[in-house]
Amino acid sequence: MFKFISLAERLDFLEAVRFLAERAKIMLPESDDPQEEERARLKQRILDINLLAARFFNEAINSRHGEAAAGYLNKRGISQSTVRRFGLGFSYNEWDSLYKYLKAQGITEGEMLKSGLVLQSRSGQMYDRFKGRLMFPIFDVRGNVIGFGGRVLDDSLPKYMNSPETPAYNKRKHLYALNFAKNSEDTGLIIVEGYMDVISLHQSGITNVVASLGTALTESQGRILKKYADEIIISYDADTAGQAATLRGLELLNDIGCSVRVLSVPDGKDPDDYIRKNGPDRFRKLAENALPLVEYKIRMLKNEHDLDKTDGRIAFLNKAAGVMAKVDNVVEREMYIKKLSREYEISEEAMLSEVIRRTRPAGRQSLKLAKAVEAAKRSASPAESIEAKLIQNERFILSLLCVDNSIYKTLKEIFDIDQYTGGENRKTAQILYRRMEERKGTTPAELLNIVSAEESDEYARILNEECHCDDNQKAILGKIRDIEKLKMESRRDKVIELLKNESSLAEGEEAKLKLELKNLMQEINAINYKNLSREGRGK
Ligand code: CTP
Ligand code: MN
Repeated sequence: MFKFISLAERLDFLEAVRFLAERAKIMLPESDDPQEEERARLKQRILDINLLAARFFNEAINSRHGEAAAGYLNKRGISQSTVRRFGLGFSYNEWDSLYKYLKAQGITEGEMLKSGLVLQSRSGQMYDRFKGRLMFPIFDVRGNVIGFGGRVLDDSLPKYMNSPETPAYNKRKHLYALNFAKNSEDTGLIIVEGYMDVISLHQSGITNVVASLGTALTESQGRILKKYADEIIISYDADTAGQAATLRGLELLNDIGCSVRVLSVPDGKDPDDYIRKNGPDRFRKLAENALPLVEYKIRMLKNEHDLDKTDGRIAFLNKAAGVMAKVDNVVEREMYIKKLSREYEISEEAMLSEVIRRTRPAGRQSLKLAKAVEAAKRSASPAESIEAKLIQNERFILSLLCVDNSIYKTLKEIFDIDQYTGGENRKTAQILYRRMEERKGTTPAELLNIVSAEESDEYARILNEECHCDDNQKAILGKIRDIEKLKMESRRDKVIELLKNESSLAEGEEAKLKLELKNLMQEINAINYKNLSREGRGK
């Protein structure tokens, strides 16, 4: 059931558990920590209040009070059914109508204040935060109302007001309309700036669209995007602020490993203007033709320089060389160099040498490193399989720790975090060990939530198939012995490799290595022998 919900609703394991618990009205214990539990309770209370408020605002927009707001939406081409789908509403042009409503619903003043919907003046008067505004409820990925944005109906300022940070709402960690966009059949996600852009695109049938909530894209948002989409398309406004935000967003998404492109709407329009005038098909075309990072940067440079003048051209090409130098993929880099040199009638060699001159030392190093790793992989496949075995054994240890927290005592003594070899294993161990240190305990569900999506299936398999030991303590000790042996084997192979190139060894080095090799062989044999005799006795 959890698997089904996590696939159908595109939620991770914990989110699926929460989703089903909410459906079944089961309170999930968030933690043993009373403080955390209080926070969870408060968060739930705020979600309840928000839902009441969203209904209140929505009823208002359908009433005589909300005529102006309904008319405004109508003028902007937003249909009745879109209003329903996005739960749009109107906040009364009175200073305490929501306050009174919530009070009548039995909400305490303290809770109202914590929800951010109601404020208190210095003289102690309670008053509504949102007044005379078109209201956009902000949903989390499970469809809870976590906060609101409110737009004025005219040109007055501030154009938008938003809910403050509350235990239920953190604008840096959410994306507007992801609850709808995650179910879209279109591939990839398009990220835009405004509520209205999102709503207008969704109404036109382009539903793979979300907005960052009035902030520059954050890393948390980037990671969420990455989780839901293979490709991200940024479509921010064409003004300077929008362009700067586009570049930052591009770099951020690129850095966390997303494939990302830029959709520029022509004539400085925002996506909402554009789709209303040109329709969804033309917008889809724009998305198809969205530019990859490098091409976008080069396009920007072209706009910044006067290419009809010689010094403009030189400055442009120099900057473009800088952009291309940052491309790590050699094939891709060459392609851009070819393209630009053809376009500007300069020799490829000249362009290439300019690019190479600008290649960051780090870039060159990582290229070298990549080559060395490639070579190592080709020449020494046994080493690779030792590596894989190590990672697998470590995964087992982490899984069993989550099944049986009592083995932590042993792990703490003889297998600390530094002994994990795989990058992700070490990180996972860090989190689990910390939880154990803080006496919070840890569970298999938590483990599945901590590890990356690619790994969680393998962990689920290990938890299901391998973690039913008669004696967990013994199983862990056995695994740790296996790991020690694997590490020795790996070192043995390395020493052999070094000894093969004896000409490159410093004086005295060879003798040392030979001694180390002899010791390693002896220890490995001893372990093999012990294992053999143990098996003989055990069965
Ligand atoms: N925003 C905000 N506070 C402001 C202005 C903007 O929080 N004072 C956020 C809102 O989330 C808004 C987004 O930034 O949706 C983009 O701003 P803008 O382009 O001005 O808004 P649109 O949604 O495009 O609004 P409209 O088309 O109605 O002008
Ligand atoms: Mn707009």
